[in-house]
Amino acid sequence: MLAEVLLMTCVVIVGSQWGDEGKGKVVDYFAGKADIVVRFSGGNNAGHTVVVKGKKYAFHLMPCGAVRGKQLIIGNGVVVDPKVLLEEIELLKKDDITPKLSISERAHVIFPYHRTLDEAEEQFKGKMKAGTTKRGIGPCYEDKAGRFGLRMCDIVNKEMLKEKIEHLFKLKEKQIQVYGGKFDFTKEQLIEEYAAYGAKLKSCVGDVNLSLNKAIDEGKKVLFEGTQGTMLDIDHGMYPVGTSCNVIAGAACTGAGVGPTKIDTVVGLAKAYVSRVGEGPLPTELLDETGEYLRKKGAEFGVTTGRPRRVGWLDMPALKYACRVNGINWLAITKLDVLAGLEKVKICTAYTIDKKVLEDIPPSCELLSRCKPVYKEMKGWNDFNAEEAVKNGYESLPQELRAYVSEITKLSNTPIYLISIGPGREETIIVASSHIFV
Ligand code: GDP
Ligand code: IMO
Ligand code: MG
Repeated sequence: MLAEVLLMTCVVIVGSQWGDEGKGKVVDYFAGKADIVVRFSGGNNAGHTVVVKGKKYAFHLMPCGAVRGKQLIIGNGVVVDPKVLLEEIELLKKDDITPKLSISERAHVIFPYHRTLDEAEEQFKGKMKAGTTKRGIGPCYEDKAGRFGLRMCDIVNKEMLKEKIEHLFKLKEKQIQVYGGKFDFTKEQLIEEYAAYGAKLKSCVGDVNLSLNKAIDEGKKVLFEGTQGTMLDIDHGMYPVGTSCNVIAGAACTGAGVGPTKIDTVVGLAKAYVSRVGEGPLPTELLDETGEYLRKKGAEFGVTTGRPRRVGWLDMPALKYACRVNGINWLAITKLDVLAGLEKVKICTAYTIDKKVLEDIPPSCELLSRCKPVYKEMKGWNDFNAEEAVKNGYESLPQELRAYVSEITKLSNTPIYLISIGPGREETIIVASSHIFV
């Protein structure tokens, strides 16, 4: 049968769970055929891993298309810690990769006082804390919404930077004192440090929106690299234990300045189970030896903070919700190899709460924490050789694994584009008969 070719030029990759679904790996995979890779949300709270021929790259701000030498854009929706970005550029240069990077002049900048506030706010919140990455993400987005923020265009202009820091300094000092945090930098230090970052990044900073839209109009293939996961979205995720911005597919439009009519398709990533780093309810959480097995086998430790990730069975109410709020056309299922070796695997198909069955995820942490999962139990599968499976195709994989994948399609009512059976770029099998990006 001839494969159907979908003429798509703008594809958004989003996390459909609690983050760390394997976006780095899958973005790198699709980037092979893309012209431009765009980050549109989050900051260096993200940790995206790409593994090529055994070499591991961990990106926090740099779009993952860097490994393929593609054109890269950091859009206006991202919060940029310039120190982290410059370190990532230097690391890539050591591997002989000079990233072709453009940064929106509208992107907001993370300052040391944001990190101090992040820590202090979390302490103040106590039980209500999200277990943030402490990278200053929340306070930077607070300043953006409060219109106290400094943007990339401000740090590449020393006079502007000086004027704004002079004005803001007292306020930031007071805010930190309110929370009982320690303020240990001077105005002069901040100005000098950030002017130096601005000078180093100046050649990359500009009106990227114009060139991005022009490229789309010319038919260039653009990949939008999502961060975090739907359950961490500020509006659609679990408030207040998620992150501080929108991360769903719609954020690609606002975070890069691209109209919704330009987006052709949305690929939602889901692990074959779930993981969560940070606080908040996780109804299918496994606190037993099976959880330990998955954490160890799946190397479930945060790329940004190194924290052990909480793990649990696949949560369909959450995944179905993600399909809806993102408008996911295709799913990509990762880490199916990690589930191998278990006698039985489970999928949560619904929850029960107060003796009622709930098929959709409830809107609040209070309700979700009272939800008990209803499971469908399925037969597990044995370990398999990923290289052989890639060579011999999807049908060569254990029948029980394929039944599990079919069940996900059935329950989510969404087709699966690819499956991932190992961290390496090549450990990927296309399941669909259509092709995204030719
Ligand atoms: P992201 O934040 O969504 O990009 O995901 P992370 O990079 O934080 O976490 C995913 C982890 O799983 C990384 O260590 C990947 O190298 C790894 N990974 C991705 N896909 C697979 C897979 O199919 N199997 C296995 N075993 N590991 C995978
Ligand atoms: P990637 O892109 C997993 C979680 C934090 C915390 C909450 C808020 O790698 O999937 P923040 O620092 O954003 O204010 O923290 O969100 N979190 C992530 N969890 N993967 C991520 O990114 C995350 N980014 C933030 O643990 O619970
Ligand atoms: Mg991650």
